[in-house]
Amino acid sequence: MQLIHEVTALRAAIAQRRAQGQRIALVPTMGNLHAGHASLVAQARDSADCVVVSIFVNPLQFGPNEDFDRYPRTFDADCEVLREQGATLVFAPSLEQMYPNGYPPSTTVQVDGTLVEQLDGLSRPGHFRGVATVVNILFNLVQPDLAIFGEKDYQQLAVIRRMAADLGLPIEVSGAPTVREADGLARSSRNQYLSAEQRARSIGIFASLQHVASGLRSGRRDFSALEREAAEMLVERGFQPDYVAIRAPDLAPPTVDADGYVVLIAALLGSTRLIDNLTVNLH
Ligand code: PAJ
Repeated sequence: MQLIHEVTALRAAIAQRRAQGQRIALVPTMGNLHAGHASLVAQARDSADCVVVSIFVNPLQFGPNEDFDRYPRTFDADCEVLREQGATLVFAPSLEQMYPNGYPPSTTVQVDGTLVEQLDGLSRPGHFRGVATVVNILFNLVQPDLAIFGEKDYQQLAVIRRMAADLGLPIEVSGAPTVREADGLARSSRNQYLSAEQRARSIGIFASLQHVASGLRSGRRDFSALEREAAEMLVERGFQPDYVAIRAPDLAPPTVDADGYVVLIAALLGSTRLIDNLTVNLH
């Protein structure tokens, strides 16, 4: 496994692989890798010869009062995980390498429209602009055939797919299923912010998602009432819900005769913001 910190070295390593006719996959991350990230790398390895994993805590996607400064940075442990998973190349750039003309950059990528102007896009102004910009830079540096993102960040995956389609990027964007703890809590780097007592209550998110999903499966289509019930469940368990939303799989408003939905939740437990979602297929 090759460790690379600079763009020129990255470009050279990629050019060499390309010349050998290798298929290249990219898995972008912010490090502090867990089983969720590992599953993305495993999926990439199954369909590419060369798996590039980037590790970069991107300041552009954090709001001023968010956790950029305390976001866990665990580079050595991350490399261990990646070695085990068979990653080919780890790209861990500095801020200067990613934003070579100064930070913040003058050019950003903004996806507009209802896809972004809802859910996390409303609660975290500028977040998806930061994500789309850094992912676009990574796409340009690596020029992968394939890039893999987790369904855990459902709206992020949708935004990146839209960006790639709108900008004509010749990159296949794939989703990977959410990896959960045994009790249902989605794996997340932010779970370690939780106290033992909060960790015990945190399964309230998965329980609320399942409540809505089983309502939909049993034929209920009173979307607002289902959303309200799930929010109440969260409050009872000590959460401050940000949103509980039933949407069509493409994040459009849900319709009563659809054959699938996605249920999305964001909620605060203390000062930790957790997100999760569940897809409900009815056919
Ligand atoms: P990060 O939170 O490190 O996540 C990196 C990738 O791992 C994302 O595609 C995310 O959806 C996926 N992931 C996280 N937890 C997961 C889980 N429990 N199961 C499956 N996949 C999971 O998302 C980001 O970083 C950043 O926004 C990034 C795309 C790297 C841009 O900076």
